[in-house]
Amino acid sequence: MSKLPLIATVLILAAGADVALAQDMDKTAKRGAAAYRLCAACHSLHPGVHLSGPSLADMWGRRAATLSDFGRYTDALKKSDIVWDETTLYAWIADPQVMVPGTTMTFRGIENGKTREDLVAFLRLALAPNGAAKVVKEGLIPAGMARGQIPADLSSVGSNQRITEIRHCGDGYHVTTADGAKFPFWETNVRLKVDTSPRGPRSGEPVLHRSGMVGDRVSIIFSSLAELRQSIAEKC
Ligand code: HEC
Repeated sequence: MSKLPLIATVLILAAGADVALAQDMDKTAKRGAAAYRLCAACHSLHPGVHLSGPSLADMWGRRAATLSDFGRYTDALKKSDIVWDETTLYAWIADPQVMVPGTTMTFRGIENGKTREDLVAFLRLALAPNGAAKVVKEGLIPAGMARGQIPADLSSVGSNQRITEIRHCGDGYHVTTADGAKFPFWETNVRLKVDTSPRGPRSGEPVLHRSGMVGDRVSIIFSSLAELRQSIAEKC
């Protein structure tokens, strides 16, 4: 009889330790979630959503550079023979350039080993099947961070951004927008871009996008490369 309270005490202590362990894991993943901010600029946790970097969904146990719908892997990563697990990810986020010289993941790395452990603890959940939904539901990161920094939707911009004419003359581009405004830009300040995603400009409606601190830097974004080639006349 006297053994019972002892067993009960041991059970309670064991349960307590379990809870403490779970709480500790929770805190670790929470800190890791904060560190994941560094990755969300270039990656989505949603399957099939590729930004500057490939989607990180369902990463565990997969060989590096094998997503068939991501066409921008470097040969360096393809030839690396890495399989993604906690050890390889821990090394990768320390310094991708050291692990795979020549990779285009231009991330300077996380020096602090504890921060890397925390991030790997978060990724353990986030890169598992349905991980994006789980980490959002558990309040670890906001939905927007799980989606990643998807560029602005250019398919429905106002008439002040929709371009109707672009000329190149001398050292400048002369741009007219759908509201009738005309702008001269120094050619050095203009970036010509293509966005072929569904969020890109509509066909035949290139978009003027202002950027930069000073406000004189602009991007002109086309729906396709063919449109870029055909849309700019050399005319003074
Ligand atoms: C500046 C953009 C950028 C940032 C920031 C970034 N990545 Fe990447 N990541 C990339 C690119 C680009 C690749 C593809 C590299 C290649 O092919 O060499 C990549 C590849 C990867 C891969 C391999 C994917 C595969 O399919 O094999 C993993 C894993 C990864 N990144 C994780 C992370 C994590 C975790 C973070 C945050 C600590 C992060 N990345 C931050 C751009 C970025």
